[in-house]
Amino acid sequence: MDVFEAMATTRAMRRLDPDRDVSDADLLKVVEAATKAPSGGNSQPVRWLVVRDAAKRKQLGDIYRACWAPVREMYAAAMKEDDGSVNARVLRSADYLGDHMGDAPAIVLPCSKGAPGQAESSVFGAVQNLFLAARALGLGTTLTTVHRMREGEVKALLEVPDDVTTWAMIPVGYPLGRWGEAQRRPVREVTYWDSWRSPPPT
Ligand SMILES: Cc1cc2nc3c(=O)[nH]c(=O)nc-3n(C[C@H](O)[C@H](O)[C@H](O)COP(=O)(O)O)c2cc1C
Repeated sequence: MDVFEAMATTRAMRRLDPDRDVSDADLLKVVEAATKAPSGGNSQPVRWLVVRDAAKRKQLGDIYRACWAPVREMYAAAMKEDDGSVNARVLRSADYLGDHMGDAPAIVLPCSKGAPGQAESSVFGAVQNLFLAARALGLGTTLTTVHRMREGEVKALLEVPDDVTTWAMIPVGYPLGRWGEAQRRPVREVTYWDSWRSPPPT
């Protein structure tokens, strides 16, 4: 798949087929692609925790559900105020994942040592590599972070050391829906050339 097509169509795929398994080989392949990303001083701090065990996935799903509940109330309130920050389609989709995180055939947690505010810069580029590699293999992913509200429970379940942060919880599986182009602002609306006041050349 062309890399530009992969970038254009990699978006939050929250409805995943619980009955179509993902191979360990493909999971290792997308993690390997993630390891090719840059990191500060080439320190390569990210450790990838791939959860395949059904009982552990279920427990992660339960933790995710508990974390999503208050966040969804916040989003629902924002939607009522119609401030444009969230729409009904996204909320429905996020609600679905709120109930089904544990059904994903695999859940990947990118982890690292290092303080929030600094360490992430060496993590999320790698996460995007993982997303693009998954897209190329037809696998859906979504970046989620709400589990951090109960990160202690996640770390206890997966025996993650105290000084390691679990940055995200990423469900991986074959999408139930279709791949569509991600809706993003036009490039000219978000780009300046040489100064904050100048648009890019035409
Ligand atoms: C930092 C970050 C945190 C996110 N956390 C969550 C989350 O906890 N749950 C969720 O369902 N989606 C989460 N998302 C996914 C976003 O809602 C999604 O990327 C955005 O709505 C664009 O969706 P699209 O790619 O389908 O267009 C997160 C995305 C980012 C970048």
